[in-house]
Order: sequence, then C-alpha cells, then structure tokens
Amino acid sequence: MSHRDNQLRQEAYAEIEKFRDQVEADPHRLRFHIQPPVGLLNDPNGFIQYNGTYHMFYQWMPFKTGHGAKYWGHYTSDDLVNWQAEPIALTPSEWFEKNGCYSGSAVEANGLMNLFYTGNVKDEEGNRESYQVLATSEDGIHFEKQGVVLELPEEYTAHFRDPKVWKHGEYWYMVVGTQNHDLQGRVALFRSSDLSDWEHMGVVTGAHTDQLDDFGFMWECPDLFELQDNHILVVSPQGLEVEGNHYQNVYQSGYFVGDMNYETGKLKHGSFKELDQGFEFYAPQTTLDDQGRRILVGWMGVPDQDEEHHPTIKHKWIHTLTLPRELTLDGDKLIQKPVAELEKLRKEEISYERVELNGVETTIEGIEGDAFELQLGFEHNKADVFELTLRNNARVVYHKPSGELTLERKRFEDRRMESRTCKIGELEDLRLFVDTSSVEMFVNGGEEVFTARYYPEQENRSVYFASSGELTLNVSHWKL
Ligand code: FRU
Repeated sequence: MSHRDNQLRQEAYAEIEKFRDQVEADPHRLRFHIQPPVGLLNDPNGFIQYNGTYHMFYQWMPFKTGHGAKYWGHYTSDDLVNWQAEPIALTPSEWFEKNGCYSGSAVEANGLMNLFYTGNVKDEEGNRESYQVLATSEDGIHFEKQGVVLELPEEYTAHFRDPKVWKHGEYWYMVVGTQNHDLQGRVALFRSSDLSDWEHMGVVTGAHTDQLDDFGFMWECPDLFELQDNHILVVSPQGLEVEGNHYQNVYQSGYFVGDMNYETGKLKHGSFKELDQGFEFYAPQTTLDDQGRRILVGWMGVPDQDEEHHPTIKHKWIHTLTLPRELTLDGDKLIQKPVAELEKLRKEEISYERVELNGVETTIEGIEGDAFELQLGFEHNKADVFELTLRNNARVVYHKPSGELTLERKRFEDRRMESRTCKIGELEDLRLFVDTSSVEMFVNGGEEVFTARYYPEQENRSVYFASSGELTLNVSHWKL
C-alpha cells in the first residue's frame, strides 16, 4: 500500500467515524439494501462470486453527498441478503486515477480476483483523460494495482469508461462505454489472451451505426452476456429524448437482445427496452453465479437528478443499490425476479384469501409498516381502477381499460405528485419490496419492474387499498 493510498484510506475512515451517529440517526436509513456508510454511493461495480462468496463493490464519494474522485467501497455476502462491510477496496491514489477510480468489473483468473476499472484524470482546465486499470487480489479483500492496461484509442473521446470483462472460448473480452468524435454513444470491444494486452476489435453497436439512428451522445456501463442462447447488451445511453411513457428520467438503462459474432465483434440486435419503469435506476451490472444464475443489481439513483432534494443529505449520505434480480429471457423480453434468497428476510406472515374490494378505500388488518414485502394476486377484476397507497407518499394505480400501470410518488422538492407509467395489459400480480425509503415493485411475475426512492413521514405506516368496482385480491404480507 503506497503512502498516498494509506492517507486516503485514513481520511475516508475518519469521515465514517465523524458522521456515524448523524448517518445512523436518519429514519430513512434502509434496512435491507446496500448503502454507503457516509457520503454518496453510485454504480455497483465488480459484482462477482469468488470462492463461493458474493462481492459487491460500489462507486463511493466519502467526503460529500455529490460526485467527485470516487473510491471503491466493498461488501461481501454468502447469500445475497446479508451483506458485510469490508475494508475500502480502491482509493484514487495513483496519477492514472487521481480524479476517481471509476466503474468497472471483476473476473477470476489464475487464482486471483482481477478488477478492471477506469482511471479518471482531469487537468486544471477540466480536460479529461481515461485509463483502463487492472488491480488484483488473492483474498478478494486487499488489492494490488497492476497499472494501466489500456490507453484511449484514437476513435473515441475521453468519455471512455466502465470496462466489463468476460471470457468466451480461449479469449477474454472487454466492452467499454464511450463516445466517438461526432459525439455518438458507442460500445467498444477489446480482446486479450492474457488480460494485459488488449486488441481493439471495433464497435459492438451504438448510435448512428447501421442498426440505430440518434441514440444518445454517450453510452455508459455496458455489460454483454449470454442468456438462453441469446446475447444481451445492457447499457446506459445518455441523451435519449422523451417518447410518450419512455425515457422519462434524465438518463436510462436498458438492453438489446441479439446475436454476438465474436469474429467480427458485432452484435446484431433488436430494439432497445428499458430495464426499469420507475424513477431511480441506472448503471446496472450483472454476474453469473455458481448456480448458473444471471443476477443484476442497479444503482437506485440517476446522474444529474435532484440530488439536493433527497432529505438524506441532511444526514450526510445519499443513494442505495437495488435488490439483486435474477434474469431470464422470454422471447425478446427480460424477466426480472427478486433472487429467491430474499425470502430469508421474511418475518411474521399475514395472508388473506379472496379479499373483496368494492369501491371504498380500505385498510386490511395487519397490512402496514415501514419495511415489508407485499404480494397481491388479482382475481375477478371488474374494476376500471385499482389503487394502492403506501404511507400516504407513493401510490400504485392500475387503469384496466388502458392496461396501464402507474407509480406515483411525492416529488422531493415540493411534495407534489409525479408519476411514471407503463403499459402492461392485464394486471395479474404485484410483488412489492418496501424499505423505509424505497419501493421495488415487480409486476406480473417480473415482466416489468418499477424502482423508486420515497420519503414518507416516519409515523405514517398505512397501506390503503381502493378500487372503482368489484375486485378480489389474494394478499400476503411479511415484515422485513
Ligand atoms: C455512471 C458513471 C460511470 C462512471 C461512474 C463515475 O453513473 O458516470 O460512467 O464510471 O459513474 O462515478
């Protein structure tokens, strides 16, 4: 560990100590999500199962609730449910990363955990440089920086970051999110036989290629993987215009389903689909675990989206990661289900069969709280409108005639309602994971997901049900 590295670590640990009480006193502190000990968390990084243990790293700014020279924070877990804080994994201590150890990924090779990430460098005038860096570890806890393995190719601007590495056949491959000199978002592909010499294979896909027109000025956090004999490219393109219900957030994350040709380095793909229909979701990353599951975790936040209005900043922290979701493919649509292990969180089940709603707003005995799982099965739905109100702060509205499902919440700056809507057709079931200040709602067995932060009054623990006509519900509720 260099002197500089040690110094940066000590400063960050001191910051955790200094604000520990203030952070812990926040009623909006989450109970079952990964959150920073202090400061700002953004992208999930280096998600991997290594020697049986799940590792989740995250982009971390210890010294303020804004962005800056990022560290990599670190948690581990045996079950994707209980996470243990580990020592800081990376600090921006070297010349090639002095303005941040930006996002990246992990692979296992030669008995080591290998982290690939972006070294972000800015000069006095704000000019950017980007280096792709390798750090290795035997124990998965202490990392040694091996230095720069890839310099910026001339085809791209210095917006070139977030390497995701995987193995296919005898080669290693790396995708990097980038922008070309015409300011079009692209995914660049590299190939290596030893993880240190990387050959540029060109552009996998991107805006203004033969498969897409205008599609954003920068693509962040690409992730390319195989799923059920198809290839999926998950990516976060910046600069998509609002189109009806689509692309309502500042930036979005989504995916293309296609066929990867490893000889040409091109992905032949269909249209882009958003991964999440809610307010806060960005920069997801996946890993393949030893049960063969493809698991995705996202940042429950979005860049440049009212960070100053989150009330948690009074308590010196901001943002969280989503729950892990298992991915499967149904035709050309990704199905996302909370990983099965999350059932371990369940305490005190309350279930009702065939609860009849008939137009009046009602509570249901025992169905309330500030952290719970709620499952609703819909039967004989003759009502045009169904509504579920959470702690008088977020509301789910299903409009049967249009087949549209809406999530509303109180806007952070002025408490007025704002909404996100998705066409789902018939509503069959909802499964909600409600934490003290977050909602993740899985619709119709994971066909859609809505993710959002919300900041209810602490005393309010109510859940209200309403319908405009006859509707029968099967209800299950667990405290979490
Ligand atoms: C996405 C992102 C990445 C970058 C990181 C910096 O949220 O902008 O492209 O590596 O965050 O924290």
